[in-house]
Amino acid sequence: MARELNARYWEDRYTTGDTPWDIGAASTPITTYLDGLRDRDLRILIPGAGRGYEAEYAHRAGFRNVFAMDLTDEALKGLSQRYPTFPREQLLIGDVFEHEGTYDLILEQTLLCALEPADRERYVRAMHRLLMPGGKLVGVLFDQVPNPQGPPFAASKEEYERLFTSLFPGATFERCHNSITPRAGRELWMKAVRS
Ligand SMILES: C[S@@+](CC[C@H](N)C(=O)[O-])C[C@H]1O[C@@H](n2cnc3c(N)ncnc32)[C@H](O)[C@@H]1O
Repeated sequence: MARELNARYWEDRYTTGDTPWDIGAASTPITTYLDGLRDRDLRILIPGAGRGYEAEYAHRAGFRNVFAMDLTDEALKGLSQRYPTFPREQLLIGDVFEHEGTYDLILEQTLLCALEPADRERYVRAMHRLLMPGGKLVGVLFDQVPNPQGPPFAASKEEYERLFTSLFPGATFERCHNSITPRAGRELWMKAVRS
């Protein structure tokens, strides 16, 4: 039977501790980006937040309106255990494809690569729907991964450009210069603005 990358799949990965994507800290390209933002009132969504290191970093840095979303509670438990003062109502258990809301900023950190490649266009549509006009989708995307069976699934810069061009014309995907060492040379920094 074909494997489905559903809530059960991800929950099992967390309960069995099979989480090689978890770097144990917020990703440096994202912390660097957040450090450069002035407006700490932005409504921020982190879909596929996992154990929520970026959400914790953002909240501690004064971004009070940061929402961490994941398909499974098993992932977000990590955030509540490490940082119990993170607002409970900003922990969203659910499917980003079904989520309703509007955000100024969406942070991408290993969600797109966790989806079946067939769901990539759906992801782009969901990000577009969840952003305010002028809102931004930023974060890191893999253009190479060690395991071609996935997840994670990588795509080339050209594939990402093709995928985003209709809803996010002008989206950029540049080689990341501040990746963590094990990911150096394999990450692209995405910046896509909703018109
Ligand atoms: C590879 S993990 C990355 C987790 C986290 N961003 C990190 O870097 O540690 C992918 C995460 O996306 C979540 N996920 C997968 N599909 C999702 C969906 N449709 N909506 C919300 N979360 C999803 C999974 O439960 C998992 O926690």
